[in-house]
Amino acid sequence: MMGHQNIFMEKRKHYMPIFGNRLILLVTTVVLICNAAIAGVEGQSRRVLNFNAGWSFRLDAETDYKNSTADYSDWRNLDLPHDWSIEMPFDSLSPGRSGTAYLPGGVGWYKKAFALSDADRQKRLYIVFGGIYENSEIWINDVYLGHRPNGYVPIVYDLTDHVYKNGVSNVITVKVNNSQQPNSRFYTGSGIYRDVKLVFTEDVAIAYNGSFITTPLINEDEATVHASFEITNYALREQGNITVETRIHDPEGCIVARKVTPEIFTKKQKVTVVEQEIEVPSPQLWSTDRPVLYRAVTVLRKGKRELDRYETVFGIRSFVFDVKNGFSINGQPMKIRGVCLHSDLGALGMAFNRSAAIRQLQIMKDMGVNGIRTSHNPAASEFLDLCDEMGFIVMNETFDVWKHHKNPFDYHLYWDAWHERDFADHIKRDRNHPSLFVWCLGNEAQEQWHDPGLGESIPRRLAAIVDSLDGTRPTTIASNEMSLDNPVLMSTAVDLIGYNYNHGKWPTFPEDHPGRKFIVTESTSALASRGQYDLVPIDTMRIWPTRWDIPFDGGNSDKSISAYDHVHTPWGSTHEESLRLFEAYPHISGMYVWTGFDYLGEPTPYTWPARSSYFGIVDLAGFPKDVYYLYQSVWTDKDVLHLLPHWNWHQGDTVDVVAYYNNADEVELFVNGISKGRKTKEKNKLHVRWRVPYQAGSLTAVAYQDGIEMRRATRQTAGEAVRLVIKNREDTLDVGNHELAFLEVVAVDLEGNEVPCFNDWVEVETKVGGTVVATDNGNPTDGTSFQSLKRKAYNGKLLVVVKGNKGDDKIAVMAHAKGLRSGIRQLVVE
Ligand code: GAL
Repeated sequence: MMGHQNIFMEKRKHYMPIFGNRLILLVTTVVLICNAAIAGVEGQSRRVLNFNAGWSFRLDAETDYKNSTADYSDWRNLDLPHDWSIEMPFDSLSPGRSGTAYLPGGVGWYKKAFALSDADRQKRLYIVFGGIYENSEIWINDVYLGHRPNGYVPIVYDLTDHVYKNGVSNVITVKVNNSQQPNSRFYTGSGIYRDVKLVFTEDVAIAYNGSFITTPLINEDEATVHASFEITNYALREQGNITVETRIHDPEGCIVARKVTPEIFTKKQKVTVVEQEIEVPSPQLWSTDRPVLYRAVTVLRKGKRELDRYETVFGIRSFVFDVKNGFSINGQPMKIRGVCLHSDLGALGMAFNRSAAIRQLQIMKDMGVNGIRTSHNPAASEFLDLCDEMGFIVMNETFDVWKHHKNPFDYHLYWDAWHERDFADHIKRDRNHPSLFVWCLGNEAQEQWHDPGLGESIPRRLAAIVDSLDGTRPTTIASNEMSLDNPVLMSTAVDLIGYNYNHGKWPTFPEDHPGRKFIVTESTSALASRGQYDLVPIDTMRIWPTRWDIPFDGGNSDKSISAYDHVHTPWGSTHEESLRLFEAYPHISGMYVWTGFDYLGEPTPYTWPARSSYFGIVDLAGFPKDVYYLYQSVWTDKDVLHLLPHWNWHQGDTVDVVAYYNNADEVELFVNGISKGRKTKEKNKLHVRWRVPYQAGSLTAVAYQDGIEMRRATRQTAGEAVRLVIKNREDTLDVGNHELAFLEVVAVDLEGNEVPCFNDWVEVETKVGGTVVATDNGNPTDGTSFQSLKRKAYNGKLLVVVKGNKGDDKIAVMAHAKGLRSGIRQLVVE
């Protein structure tokens, strides 16, 4: 598992939310002592180098730069991961259209020169790209390494026989061709957008992604760990007498089990598989609440010489999907309360950044989410590492299309030649992740309707690939055609029947599909702009668009969507409706809501200038919409009392006021201290509502349990904005680990109340150290580039993403707006 080799990794981090949203790093003394005990024996048999820094880049569809002698001295210098599309202006004529957020693709070239020392003369050398979108072609010096159409799977090439190892410069050239558009229904980005690594090994070593660890037997006293390793031998002759030793480190870092397999014989140019069974005493079980991780460190030796040292992170947990009772983990029933997430990181585009992904996942965790569906393609392997560490039930997906297309240039072009290889590579990359529970073989495939033969055979073939390479996890397919004639839905090759939408049919699933297990692969698709409220009675439901195949010409003139949870697509539902149904039926093992975050592309129901989605429970900038608190009130034990809308209206307006709450039996509303009555949730409702005439002043909700006040929430009418305030979750920034700070700019009035309708231009700058890498405001129609330092706030908020630079010890960020006192915030660099 390349993603799981911690050669350069700092001590493992365990993230726990404390003090609200703050993440802390827990490193116990025990970890240090246990790790210290093994530190002295680590060898240099395998090295993994982060290869992200110091690339040259040029966007150019006209010229061929594949030769190592091509002059690239005037190209732009950058560090990877990189997404060039996100840097471009939004363009209504962009060939990817709304699907890819009106951001263009094109042809990009990357080059990097590097020299290897004499010490590496005897080593084998591999380069591993985490993901290149798309159609990459790669040369080392002047040797062509290959072409890979798929933009999401890892790409590995063996450089050993093509590099100079005597200090002479090597040049690697990568051509990325994302010019054939449209090729996706959602934003893909363009370029080398995930980590690149160089891996040095001996001739005899464990293959790339060549370990597979399962835990077939688990009880309180011990767990049986089954480990299998693919050992490659590139030496000139067979190699005998090799010893394979695996040590298991428990979550505290202590060695708790060990196995030695002696006398392994490896034939030259062949793969030898070694299997080990190891008993781990008193296993600590991985769960979403306590995601504890074990590490298997496997050492290959010949005599005293270490040939390889390979680390696999894994977890010990058992789980069951049941026809009647849904999902349970480690013997405990648990509903999978999930969200679908695309891979983009909002204003950062597809360029993977660990701290941005942590922020996304932590926001989800705080809402009560315990599951992520990586729709509809492989996520970064580092993202799966985070799901392991933070505790999520991952539904892993490889394809949005099979052989039949959804777009003229999408993956269907490569299906025949590549899908088996791509799928296998994805499975082998991810199969050790304890957070991975379900393989989703496809999403709303056209074969549901257009090709019954393939609709039957493709699920069978894909499920067989999962069985042969994994075999420990169930499969499902996300289907949206409920007809019993749909061969994909009815496929007996998969373990769980997966419904996209069709919530009306969830209750009768047991009768419709007797004996089958059920999961909601995708639900809801409700729509909202954060902080936007249309003053209509909120029980007026709006179905936008009216039909999926009829262009939409209605809606609000500014292309906003009211956030009262009363707008949804014709195939979807309100959040409340699907949430209520999901919670009511034990046979529904899980539900993945479309979507946790807004994403780039698919600005349903609008088109240009709208360029990103309205589906998110959280907006593109990472600011929660109101329904976030609806889920939090149902999915967590935290005390919730959330009041909407804001309280800045016009005298005479009639306003629907809604409260989401839990841990209380009734809520009373006060306008300027005058009670508007107590309400309790009606049967089948997850909110309470009042309709009141607006009066400037205060709007207060008080929650009671048995008549005793438990908590209160207030919305104050804000006056004129007088100054900007910059808020942030963290006061420190870890520059070495490319951490980003996500700062929130708000405008406040004289009394310090946040001004909810503040939509003016804000300009941001770094005064000391640091660089602003992106700004955003969560408005799906904002046409300002994400790189711009000047952007309008949207409904009172603006996001500023800042990175630290080498040598910074402090960073100061300022925000300015016309007529307002500027805001400033300092960060200490770690
Ligand atoms: C689903 C599809 C998703 C997204 C969503 C929008 O049918 O699987 O990718 O397009 O609709 O509602």
